Amino acid sequence: MARIQQFLSAAVLLISLWASATIASPLKQSNVTVIGPAVSPEAFKRAVSAPYVFTAFTSVSESNLYVYTSNDGTNFSVLKGPAYTPPSGLIRDPSVILHTDGKYYIAYTTNWSGTNFAIASSADLLTWSLVATISTASSVITPVNTWAPEFFKDPKTGRLNIIVSLSTGSYGPFRPFAFTANDNTLKSWSGPVVLSGIPNTGLGYIDSFPVYYNNQYHLFTKAESNGQKHIEHAVASSLTGPYSFVQQGDFAGWGQAEGPSITVLPNGRFRLFADGFNSGKYIMSDSSDLYNWSGYQTIPNGLSGFVRHGTVLKQ
Ligand SMILES: *[C@@H]1O[C@H](CO)[C@@H](O)[C@H](O)[C@H]1NC(C)=O
Ligand SMILES: *[C@@H]1O[C@H](CO)[C@@H](O)[C@H](O)[C@H]1NC(C)=O
Ligand SMILES: *[C@@H]1O[C@H](CO)[C@@H](O)[C@H](O)[C@H]1NC(C)=O
Ligand SMILES: *[C@@H]1O[C@H](CO)[C@@H](O)[C@H](O)[C@H]1NC(C)=O
Repeated sequence: MARIQQFLSAAVLLISLWASATIASPLKQSNVTVIGPAVSPEAFKRAVSAPYVFTAFTSVSESNLYVYTSNDGTNFSVLKGPAYTPPSGLIRDPSVILHTDGKYYIAYTTNWSGTNFAIASSADLLTWSLVATISTASSVITPVNTWAPEFFKDPKTGRLNIIVSLSTGSYGPFRPFAFTANDNTLKSWSGPVVLSGIPNTGLGYIDSFPVYYNNQYHLFTKAESNGQKHIEHAVASSLTGPYSFVQQGDFAGWGQAEGPSITVLPNGRFRLFADGFNSGKYIMSDSSDLYNWSGYQTIPNGLSGFVRHGTVLKQ
């Protein structure tokens, strides 16, 4: 699981730093290789003690960020909303991480059409500022639409990626592409590289969310073509594919849904959250293997019908 891996790599880093500073420790023997920036334990702290952070936009506004927290991954309460309105454009589909500098970052959709997405950051989840606007136009593709950038720390490479849906025509066909951070400022990115094996027939696929589990990359991605509009499941042995679909159509009974986000519950099971864009419901469904999913429930506390496509971070 990406978020878990992110936490674990930070934990390994902290342990190794601690080991190298602790002369008498038996861990000194273990020659741990430190990859990436050295961060102090003080820097890598959470703004809130709650283990779950959920960032979303809402059915009321595409330009306002809402931030929720939860102790159990079920019962979310608002920390701040609206928490941020960007200097220009929209703030749809905010994907949140806790970065190695101890700050939270969101990547988000800036416009229904166009060739960029944006990144904002916050030290406390309350006050946000723009970090960068990232162009998605290149010799690879000049997209008409740039939708739903999603952070993904690849546990195999240690690199931070953003998976984003880019369309060659107006509102389709879409395919997922990966950008990779060049450094820890998150202002400079390489890419895009297409995630191969996800077809661009019809309107293609949007809202791709990767999970690394059992030595495989599992991609939950929405078939965008009319008459489909379901979240499907594909697997690959590398982040950029080639992917093969293992579950398609309305395989889990979620109905028409988009914007999947997967986290890990306190009991170790996976939980998928998704936006029932047509039903007005925000759904959750659980699994221990990413294949066999429980019947969905709606997210409680009045969030269902209010929040739209966001991401749940387990920190
Ligand atoms: C750690 O690495 C050094 C240098 O490569 C080597 O001499 C030493 O034996 C290693 N120690 C352990 C415990 O592997
Ligand atoms: C939900 O979370 C809020 C805030 O943490 C808390 O006050 C409330 O008791 C929780 N409700 C349940 C049913 O756990
Ligand atoms: C989105 O892009 C269009 C075309 O460039 C522009 O006219 C519009 O103002 C933009 N919308 C926002 C909310 O920035
Ligand atoms: C799916 O999960 C349910 C509940 O955990 C279990 O009862 C059922 O046997 C599982 N089905 C398969 C095919 O693994």
